[in-house]
Amino acid sequence: MTAKIIDGKSLAEGLRGRIAGHAQRLKSDHGITPGLAIVIVGHDPGSQVYVAQKAKQTVEMGMHSEKYELPETASEAEVLVLVQKLNADRAIHGILVQLPVPDHIDSRNIIQTIDPAKDVDCFTPASVGKLAIGLPGPISCTPLGCLMLLRDQLGDLSGLHAVVVGRSNLVGKPITQLLLRENCTVTMAHSRTRDLPFIVRQADIVIAAVGRPEMIKGDWIKLGATVIDVGINRIDAPERGPGKTRLLGDVDFASASQVAGAITPVPGGVGPMTIACLLANTITTASLINGLMPPSDLIA
Ligand code: GUN
Repeated sequence: MTAKIIDGKSLAEGLRGRIAGHAQRLKSDHGITPGLAIVIVGHDPGSQVYVAQKAKQTVEMGMHSEKYELPETASEAEVLVLVQKLNADRAIHGILVQLPVPDHIDSRNIIQTIDPAKDVDCFTPASVGKLAIGLPGPISCTPLGCLMLLRDQLGDLSGLHAVVVGRSNLVGKPITQLLLRENCTVTMAHSRTRDLPFIVRQADIVIAAVGRPEMIKGDWIKLGATVIDVGINRIDAPERGPGKTRLLGDVDFASASQVAGAITPVPGGVGPMTIACLLANTITTASLINGLMPPSDLIA
């Protein structure tokens, strides 16, 4: 069997089309230009690339974009003051502080200062709680992107067994909540799980979000399963030239694609969906802040 390759780029393009339409309607019908502020502290090259992409796509959607680049030496208090200013800014409907922040800053303090109404990452305790009990609000970007890919691929997910490998706040925990909402049976596995290959072999859906390059092998996958690889592991690739790197997922694509029914590539699978979902969340928060129902076609 050779798996269908799930094309995240093309699904993200469709989603961006809907987002641009909603941004246009918010403007023409309600005089609202959705605004997203992105804060980056320090010079991590990977984060710089992501943040540039996020800001560029915000503008392409006809939305208002602000980017704040603070030096590596910025204090926690400086970041908090900026977040508070953005909380009060009526032109801003979404605030994203790119993680990781430098070690001398406690990211938990930053996150807890973001107004939950503008929390497009769905990181604040209030947003996480809303997600868990199914209240309207932003949904964690990468998990939302995974869910959209799964629904596009499989339709109704009801009754399917999903195994989530990885228990991070960013992906593992929120995707579990979303899959439960979809009536999946969900198993959460992690680095301490015993006989991980046996557990993964039970899955109709595998979500690999463990952060270890090519850890999940083809012989861990049930025939025909759908595999969503969230891993983005940048590794040295001297064969491509001095200083070159390449991206690897958490799944061993070569062997897994012989067994799975469908699989996301890295890059080009989950990644493009994550940024599109951030923009979708900005439409959602701009709507909710203004007392409007968020569009249902941005949720999944
Ligand atoms: N760093 C890596 N992924 C993310 C994300 O989704 N949001 C933020 N704020 N930082 C990140």
